[in-house]
Amino acid sequence: TTKAVILVGGPSRGTRFRPLSLDLPKPLFEVAGHPIISHCFAAITKLPEIREVFIVGYYDESVFRDFIKDCSRSHPSISVRYLREYQALGTAGGLYHFRDPILKGRPDRFFVLNADVCCSFPLEQMLRLFEERDAEAVILGTRVPNEAATNFGCIVSDAHSKRVLHYVEKPESHISNLINCGVYLFSTEAIFPSIKSAIKRRSDRPRLVSYPSSDALDNQYLPPQDDDDEDGEKNEVIRLEQDILSDLADSRQFFVLETKDFWRQIKTAGSAVPANALYLTKAFQQQSEELAKPSATILPPVFIHPTARVDPTAKLGPNVSIGPRAVVGAGVRIKESIVLEDAEVRHDACVLYSIIGWSSRVGAWARVEGTPTPVREHNTSIVKNGVKVQSITILGKECAVADEVRVQNCVCLPFKELKRDVQNEVIM
Ligand code: GDD
Ligand code: GTP
Repeated sequence: TTKAVILVGGPSRGTRFRPLSLDLPKPLFEVAGHPIISHCFAAITKLPEIREVFIVGYYDESVFRDFIKDCSRSHPSISVRYLREYQALGTAGGLYHFRDPILKGRPDRFFVLNADVCCSFPLEQMLRLFEERDAEAVILGTRVPNEAATNFGCIVSDAHSKRVLHYVEKPESHISNLINCGVYLFSTEAIFPSIKSAIKRRSDRPRLVSYPSSDALDNQYLPPQDDDDEDGEKNEVIRLEQDILSDLADSRQFFVLETKDFWRQIKTAGSAVPANALYLTKAFQQQSEELAKPSATILPPVFIHPTARVDPTAKLGPNVSIGPRAVVGAGVRIKESIVLEDAEVRHDACVLYSIIGWSSRVGAWARVEGTPTPVREHNTSIVKNGVKVQSITILGKECAVADEVRVQNCVCLPFKELKRDVQNEVIM
């Protein structure tokens, strides 16, 4: 049998997702009408042999309760459980800590999915490669432009055998443009001993300094806008990427499935806009009933929640999601944007490349706009007049843009009122 683990991290991570993560844990943020994590879950449910899914992270117990209830209702034959780390244990540390529930029933293998990626999750194909090659591990890979590659885990592989020869997490210089998508299939027999020996190596190595109170502090006060590495790392933290994958590459039974399908990381708040576009496009190609019917004013793909009220003269799309109870007035134009629950866009306003936060209000004839970035670039900041700014404009929860005001390339924290034109600013 096969199981699946979704790694969700915790509240101190995802700081780059601010201001949206101030009000909702990132995995629950909705793109294309569903929480980010539910796109992962949906892919898992396509494999009939997976009967057990674990969500592993260090968010509070209550965070995923409703989501799990929804999963159990829609897929009663699949058991979904949240396993909470008492503190961040790292991507492999969490798996190891919960090895008993994962190994229960003796599954031969299990998938691990980073919750913060957006892709078609070709799990079936990964499984096939795994079986064909009698693999210990299969990693999903994708090609990115050379300039972007060092922001990810890089894979050097043998093109013919698909064997992973070499793996380096976020290397300093270019080694490959085939990168780690954050989706893995591991043999239980190979992975747990490998994590165990990494832990042993770590504890054998003498530590240089150790401040007894640093652990407690680390958890509460992480450096701002950095959710990658913490220096002064806790001894328990074991990461798949740094501590395990390069070892696996030496084992010769580690393979890569290269996907040609779409793939994006969801790190910054702005990256929810391209993720929304990619999942909407996928839903449109699959002729999903959930999407709004194309018409003179609906340029597909567009998702409109059944409880939203959209004036028939408003022109929406492509790549627009309108959340529950949102109100869109007459003559409005919205394109490449997400309008969240209870937000209101008043008549003749224009919203482009933006996210309108929960219960926010965009006044009549106002313009809220970002700047398009090519999907392939894997970047949500752009340089304007020599300054790095957000390409996507984001209004946090309960913001208000006055009538006729223009907001361009701004990130606006919750509860702000914008009464004058602003551009290229973070409004706090
Ligand atoms: N349970 C748990 N515990 N989950 C964690 C922890 C932890 O301590 N730390 C991170 N995660 C989760 C995150 O929520 C995310 O889903 C995933 O693990 C990876 O997050 P990071 O550790 O922040 O790595 P990254 O996103 O910068 O890079 C990883 O993903 C890239 C693809 O998106 C690496 O695997 C890269 O190699 C890869 O290219
Ligand atoms: P489409 O062909 O409609 O997709 O537009 P475009 O891609 O040529 O133009 P752009 O992306 O700049 O703007 C999208 C559309 O929004 C424009 O075609 C305008 O008609 C419309 N638009 C621009 N500004 C406003 C505005 O302030 N209010 C309203 N209601 N619509 C606007």
